[in-house]
Amino acid sequence: MPVKNSRFLKAVRREQVDHTPTWFLRQAGRYMPEYMAVRRHHTLLDICRTPDIAAEVTITAAEVLGNVDAAIIFADLLLPFTPMGLDFEFVNGEGPVVRNPIRTREQIEALRTDRTDDLRYVAQAIEKVSKHFAPPRPDGDQLGIIGFIGAPFTLASYMIEGGSSRNYIDTKKIMYGETAAWQMLSEKLVTVLVDYAAQQVQAGADVIQIFDSWAGALAVNDYIDYVLPQTAELIARVKALGVPVIYFGVDTASLLSTMSSMGADVLGLDWRVPLDEGWRLAGSHTAVQGNLDPIALFAPQPVLHGRVKAVLDAAGNRPGHIFNLGHGIVPGTPVENVQAVGKWVRELSRRTPQP
Ligand code: CP3
Repeated sequence: MPVKNSRFLKAVRREQVDHTPTWFLRQAGRYMPEYMAVRRHHTLLDICRTPDIAAEVTITAAEVLGNVDAAIIFADLLLPFTPMGLDFEFVNGEGPVVRNPIRTREQIEALRTDRTDDLRYVAQAIEKVSKHFAPPRPDGDQLGIIGFIGAPFTLASYMIEGGSSRNYIDTKKIMYGETAAWQMLSEKLVTVLVDYAAQQVQAGADVIQIFDSWAGALAVNDYIDYVLPQTAELIARVKALGVPVIYFGVDTASLLSTMSSMGADVLGLDWRVPLDEGWRLAGSHTAVQGNLDPIALFAPQPVLHGRVKAVLDAAGNRPGHIFNLGHGIVPGTPVENVQAVGKWVRELSRRTPQP
C-alpha cells in the first residue's frame, strides 16, 4: 500500500502539517437529519450489520460536515459481544442492554473467542469507505479511515453491569473478588479484539481507535493493577498489525501519565482537562486528540469560536495535535455549528508556508 498523503496521519505521527486536522467523535449520529432518515427504516444493529448502509452513513457524515480529515467507521463498541455468546440490544432512550449480564466465573468460561469471523460485516463496510475516499481531495489530501474497538475494561463493564452504570459495583466486585476470572475475561476480550482489529486493518483502516470510555471510573492504582496489563497488551498487538493506535477515555486527567506509558501513538483527551495540561501529562512523545466540550456546540457561535481558538492556542501548532471533541456529539447538536468548527479549525490553525 502506498503511503497516504493525509494530514490526519501526519499529525498522528507528529509530523508537520499545513493545518490542524479535525474529525468529530460520533460525527455520524442522531444529531444529523441524514442519519435519522436512514434510522427511520433500520435499527442501529441493522445499520451496523449491513455494509452498504454502514458505509453510506459513514461517508455521508464526513461529506455533510466537510472540512473533516478523517472518517470513523459506523459501528458500535458492543458488536463483538454477539460472537462471544452474549446477547444484547439497544433500547430507545436507554442505550445498550445485555439481557443476561455476566456475574460468575462459569459465564466467563463459557464466552467464545473463536467466532470473530462473524464480525466481517464491519471490515466489508470499511473496504467500501476506504475505496470511496481513496481519491485525493482538491487540496491533494486523502481522508484518514479510522477503525475502532473497545478496551477490555469498558467492554467488561457493559458485559457485567448489563448496560450503562454510575458506580460499576458489579464490575468492581468481580475485579476485586474474583481477580482470576476478571483476568480471564480481559484476556478473552483481547483475543477477540485483536482478531477484529486485524480484519479492520486488512480492509483499509489507517488507524485503530481504542475506546476506554469509562476508565475514568477507576482509581489510578486499580487501573494499574487490574486494567493496564491487558490493555497495554492490546495496544501492542494492534500496533503490531502495522497501524497507529489512538487510546481514548473520559474523565482521565488523573490517568493520563499512566496511559501515556502504554505505547499508544495518540491519547484522546476529554474536555475537562485543559489541552496543554493534558499534553504535558501525556508527554511530548505522544500526539493528542481533542478536546472541545461537545456541549459547547450548543453555545452562540461567537462563544463557540472562542472555545475552538482556546483549544488551538493551548496546542500552539505543535506537531501532533488532532482537533476533536472531548467526547461524542449528542443528539440535538446544531449541525451548522459542527460545520463551522471544522471551518474555523482550518482558518485558525493554517501554518504560514516556510520560504
Ligand atoms: O460517527 C460515529 O462515531 C458513530 C459510530 C459509533 C457508534 N457507537 C454508533 C452509535 C461509535 C464510534 C460508537 C462507539 C461507542 N458505542 C462507544 C464509545 C464512544 C463513547 O461515546 O465513549 C460506546 C460507549 C458505545 C456503546 C453505546 N452505543 C452507547 C452507550 C449507546 C447509547 C448512547 C446514546 O447516545 O444513546 C450506543 C448507541 C449508539 N451507537 C448510537 C449510535 C449512533 C445512538 C443510538 C441510535 O442511533 O439508535
